[in-house]
Amino acid sequence: MIMLNKKLLALVVLCGFVAVSVAAVNIGYQKKRNLKILPKDISDAKLDSIMDSYNTALGVKCDFCHVKVKGTADSLDFASDAEPMKENARKMMEMTIHLNKTWFYFNKDTRPEYLNTVTCKTCHRGEPFPPED
Ligand code: HEC
Ligand code: HEC
Repeated sequence: MIMLNKKLLALVVLCGFVAVSVAAVNIGYQKKRNLKILPKDISDAKLDSIMDSYNTALGVKCDFCHVKVKGTADSLDFASDAEPMKENARKMMEMTIHLNKTWFYFNKDTRPEYLNTVTCKTCHRGEPFPPED
């Protein structure tokens, strides 16, 4: 019985520790956010799915627009604007949102940033620089 309680206590302490660490990581992550086009209150899931869609639409990896953290092999600094392609992408996002908002904004329940009638893929079709014909 005493053994069991000790194990239980250890488990509770461990769970508490994990919960606190996860919360700390989340707060750190949100504070660093550098969003100029997407809504500031965007969920992580929504942000992830939008970013995934850019990879597919342009046929690139995340590092096409995001710089590597110095001294690491493959971790990316998503909040940094050091990669100029990120700002190019922002212009494209603005254009795409503008197209949807101007011509396809029929359902006012959806936020214009999340309208998907014209998407990156409509023009890019797997190419970072779509050919002219
Ligand atoms: C075509 C360019 C492009 C690609 C590819 C891309 N991103 Fe992004 N990403 C952006 C832009 C632009 C922003 C900033 C959006 C804004 O200002 O509202 C951004 C923002 C982010 C953010 C928020 C950073 C912050 O400020 O906290 C995360 C996280 C992120 N991207 C992850 C990813 C991941 C993961 C991938 C690969 C699956 C990826 N991105 C691929 C352009 C890109
Ligand atoms: C209406 C068509 C269209 C849409 C929609 C579109 N793009 Fe583009 N995009 C282009 C064309 C065409 C080029 C090539 C321009 C060039 O070669 O100078 C381009 C180029 C780019 C580039 C390369 C840098 C540059 O400025 O030339 C990036 C990055 C990019 N697009 C990201 C995106 C993202 C992300 C989306 C969705 C949010 C998107 N594009 C939506 C047509 C489009």
